[in-house]
Amino acid sequence: MKTTADFRKMKEMNQKITMVTAYDAPSAKLAEKAEVDVLLVGDSLGMVVLGYDSTVPVTMDDMIHHTKAVKRGAKNTFIVTDMPFLTYHASITETFANARKLIQNGGAHAVKLEGGGAVLEKAKLLIEGGVPVVAHLGLTPQSVGVLGGYKVQGKNQREREQLLTDAEKVEEIGASLLVLECVPEGLAEEIAKKISIPVIGIGAGRYTDGQVLVFHDIVGMTQGYVPKFVQQYTDVSTSIFEALRLFNNDVKENKFPEEKHVFQAKEKEQQDEKQ
Ligand code: KIV
Ligand code: NA
Repeated sequence: MKTTADFRKMKEMNQKITMVTAYDAPSAKLAEKAEVDVLLVGDSLGMVVLGYDSTVPVTMDDMIHHTKAVKRGAKNTFIVTDMPFLTYHASITETFANARKLIQNGGAHAVKLEGGGAVLEKAKLLIEGGVPVVAHLGLTPQSVGVLGGYKVQGKNQREREQLLTDAEKVEEIGASLLVLECVPEGLAEEIAKKISIPVIGIGAGRYTDGQVLVFHDIVGMTQGYVPKFVQQYTDVSTSIFEALRLFNNDVKENKFPEEKHVFQAKEKEQQDEKQ
């Protein structure tokens, strides 16, 4: 299993780091088999597998439940779990308690927190407590209500400077990784060059130290809107739909099950063997 030290080494040696979201055991197992470096139990699970409109409704229990499943599927891959909406803001006591649950109960190796400024103060204390932290800057989907939508961040001078300041802070506190979401390519490149922390981009262009995508986007299982930054490597939703349609038709037309699918009582089996 690669560790936080390996990720830093990979950055130094210019080797790209891969991260994929995982929400359940079978997908985690496949990602591990594909030798993906990091599994992210993202709170995107709220939208991707739980059917919510945003990540805001996702709870600690949801994240623990899905982290456990991912852990059972992938025992030898570094697992990062998102701390959900408003579970790391109110007090440091609550932040510690929630991070501890994701790690001790869920089995995560690190936790991810969205945002700069005061959030990075909480992150600093977590790290001092021995918790590996992944920072997340740029588009921070838990703040969709404040941002007013899912938009590219860091386009104007003020946002740019804020992002650079926050990225420096990420380095200063000793975060394990920085996820940078939906920022102009040039800015992401500048940040990746500036800090020694590996920068994992999503919609952040070609020059970050690694890339992360949502599992369902990669395999073409996303229903509805697919963002510009996604590469769909296959289209499993078409083959899944076709399989389900065939099953439905076959049963209704008495074509399934066939003789090869059925069990017989003992006497019948012996007769079959004699024939
Ligand atoms: O929840 C998630 O999937 C994420 C990635 C988009 C980085 O946070
Ligand atoms: Na997330």
